[in-house]
Parts: sequence; C-alpha cells; structure tokens
Amino acid sequence: MNDSRTQALNTIRAEHRTLAAVIHNLKDLLAEVHAQRIRADFPLLWSMVYYIDAFPNRLHHPKEDEWLFRLLRKRTHEADALIGELQRQHAHEPQALGEIRRWLGNVQANVPGSMDALVRTMSAYAEFTWRHVKAEEHELIPLAESHLTDADWDEIAHAFAQNADPLSGFGEADAFHQRFREIVERTPAPLGLA
Ligand SMILES: [Fe+2]
Ligand SMILES: [Fe+2]
Repeated sequence: MNDSRTQALNTIRAEHRTLAAVIHNLKDLLAEVHAQRIRADFPLLWSMVYYIDAFPNRLHHPKEDEWLFRLLRKRTHEADALIGELQRQHAHEPQALGEIRRWLGNVQANVPGSMDALVRTMSAYAEFTWRHVKAEEHELIPLAESHLTDADWDEIAHAFAQNADPLSGFGEADAFHQRFREIVERTPAPLGLA
C-alpha cells in the first residue's frame, strides 16, 4: 500500500477519534452536572468547546474540503452527492457550536431552563458529528481509496501533516491537558464507529 495513503488515512482517523472523544466526554460531563452528581467546572467545559472549535473544525474539516474532497471530485463524479452533503455539514458547524456556547453561557449565568437546553443541544451535536464521521469513514474513504492516485495521496498526507494540535499550547501540567489525556485514554476505540 502507498505510504502516503496510509499516513493520510491514519491521521484522518486519529483526528476523528480525538473529536469524538472530546464530544463524547463533554456530553457525559454535562449529563453528570445535570444530574447534580458533580459541579460544573466551567473552565474545563469552555476548554473542551474551544478544542472542538480550534482543532477539528478549523483544521480538520477545511483540510478535507480543500484536499480530500477537491481531489476526489476531480477523479470521479461517483462521490459528488456525498461530498455535497458532507460539505453542508461542515458549513453547519459554526452554527452548531454557536448554540452550544450560547447555552453554556446561559447555564453559567443561571438562566432558568438553560441546562436542559444545553444537554439537548449537546446530544444533537454528538449525534450529528457521529453520523458525519461515520459517513466519511464508511462511504467517503472507500471511494477515495478506489479513485485517488498516489500523487493525490502525497498531497493529502502533506496537508494533514501540517495540522498543529492546539493542545500542544497547553502545558503538560495544565488541568485541561491532564483531563484531555484522561478523556482519550478512557474512550474506547473505535468509538462505536464500526
Ligand atoms: Fe468532515
Ligand atoms: Fe472528517
């Protein structure tokens, strides 16, 4: 198998796992807060929202649009409808995250009813992301494997290798960094994507 292809797909799948792990854990944390089993740790909750926005949304999805999807459209029309749908989902991300931020802010301000709304919004977002990643891994990637050339995979691998994980901006001793390591370690692979 082409090395670039292996490298690109490993990176894409690892980024999906990271995204799913943070979303899953944020959802679980909110459920615990909602059930009044733990107190809301707002710096941690905001850090997780920041992470979802900064890494998967600002780096991962744009790289799929610019490299993986663009090159696949050049090689075949077979994936056009699927790519169109995945790109609409990428475009919807800022709005979805905006809603999560709004409700998290309202919870912090003790606005009545906001915790229920936040938990509902977070569940819908987790479901939306799960469907998105599943469609990419089970439908889009197999089409890419059949149609892209070795040179395409070189370009895609190069683009994805440029991703800088904003987690590296947090010190090892930082509470978010430690918490994040726990999140990744606790979340079983392959996150029910099979
Ligand atoms: Fe995507
Ligand atoms: Fe993706």
